[in-house]
Amino acid sequence: MIPYKHEPFTDFSKEENKAAYLEGLATVEGYLGQAYPLIIGGERVTTEDQITSYNPAKKTEVIGTVSKATKDLAEKAMQVADETFKMWSQVEPEIRADVLFKAASIIRRRKFEFSALLTLEAGKPWNEADADTAEAIDFLEYYARQMLRLKDGQKVESRVGEYNRYDYIPLGVGIVISPWNFPFAIMAGTTVAAVVTGNTVLLKPASTTPVVAYKFIEVLEEAGLPAGVVNYVPGSGAEVGDYLVDHPRTRFVSFTGSRDVGLRINQRASVLNEGQIWMKRVIAEMGGKDTIVVDKEADLELAAQSIVKSAFGFSGQKCSACSRAVIVEDVYDEVVERVAELTKELTIGDPTNPDNFMATVIDEAAFKKITSYIEIGKTEGKLLVGGTADDSVGYFVHPTVFADVAPSARIMKEEIFGPVVAIAKAKDFDEAIQIANDTEYGLTGAVITKNRLNQEKARKEFHVGNLYFNRGCTGAIVGYQPFGGFNMSGTDSKAGGPDYLQLHMQAKTTSEMF
Ligand code: SER
Repeated sequence: MIPYKHEPFTDFSKEENKAAYLEGLATVEGYLGQAYPLIIGGERVTTEDQITSYNPAKKTEVIGTVSKATKDLAEKAMQVADETFKMWSQVEPEIRADVLFKAASIIRRRKFEFSALLTLEAGKPWNEADADTAEAIDFLEYYARQMLRLKDGQKVESRVGEYNRYDYIPLGVGIVISPWNFPFAIMAGTTVAAVVTGNTVLLKPASTTPVVAYKFIEVLEEAGLPAGVVNYVPGSGAEVGDYLVDHPRTRFVSFTGSRDVGLRINQRASVLNEGQIWMKRVIAEMGGKDTIVVDKEADLELAAQSIVKSAFGFSGQKCSACSRAVIVEDVYDEVVERVAELTKELTIGDPTNPDNFMATVIDEAAFKKITSYIEIGKTEGKLLVGGTADDSVGYFVHPTVFADVAPSARIMKEEIFGPVVAIAKAKDFDEAIQIANDTEYGLTGAVITKNRLNQEKARKEFHVGNLYFNRGCTGAIVGYQPFGGFNMSGTDSKAGGPDYLQLHMQAKTTSEMF
């Protein structure tokens, strides 16, 4: 077996790659506006009520319409998943892993089509879309190999005359509720982690990006995944989400999204419902309020570049995005000035044009929320760049920098999930770490420093799940930087890491005397 290596990013300065992307775009444009059914046990089910997926950069352009599950259909899907579990849980791990390997190959062949779909459905600029597709491939390749590593369990000791084993078995039916910000990578990763470990899945993708999820289920089918292992049930959180989370046959819930929805799911999943004989597991990846700390002994150009890229890549719509920068006072003015300069240079516009670094935010609700935080910011700090937005054609919010913000300000505490960064001054490195830790989240963080002792202090004291030195705080790579955070950022489940698959299984000890 070829050892795991992450999927390389595409170099779009090469003409052939540009051409391939444009071809992908043409393919997707050829199927815009189609209607997609639910998939329950392989059967296509069309409902009257539909979810419409729009292009956030061209508000009226319909990417597709998707059937919307009702409680009855969710119940039917649950019965199918529960029944299919009896078969799928007995299928050899090698065969389950092969489905993932084949799916990765199919996606590699259609890489630019998938990336182009992400550009149109989620508003992802080329390089961000390319990274999302690469990460989806990585999850398939990595989790397939992890399953092969775990298929014979782990070693335990045996005494003379005794044979002890420690094996992993699947859990049951999992509800996968996936986000719109990595509508391919996280949707695919959370789904296949559950599948390769022998579980069956009801996938409820984000209502703003359901088409890419449908296309992915088609890939899994083509790769040989039997009907009923993954069931595609888009729908409303309040109707179908709650119903499935509450269901007594639900064994686990794998959720990626906001803090509030994560807490709601966790609470509901803790309730014992009639006929239920287990405690449900919850795997949750939630928000962040991620900070880049700049020390006085640091590469200041690197600091400014890292802040701008981490704050504004994909319009700041990553739970890993830099939404706060804390800079030691000795270098504060210089770094702030450079951040402002670099931000002013950013190009914003239609994501189908590769010259644009940044495009839109996802929808009207996001636009309203982010612009209202910008208004709050105007009362809490000094507006250096941006502060404007335009939703006449698409949901464009311009990259916005606030300086001289107090650590207690709302824009330093609350997750905005948009292209807004708040900058605060610290008197020294210790205070900078203190400010960085002063949040209920704990997902990512970065420290820009040349001082080895300060770096090691941050390694111990900066309380985040993913801490980076001398680089930005986004862009974790599957299998290289397992991803997940502390406190209100979720269950620290470390997607793309060596412990992730075990969250979808239970360990069984057997002991034989002879
Ligand atoms: N994994 C992504 C990153 O590291 C965020 O979800 O940026």
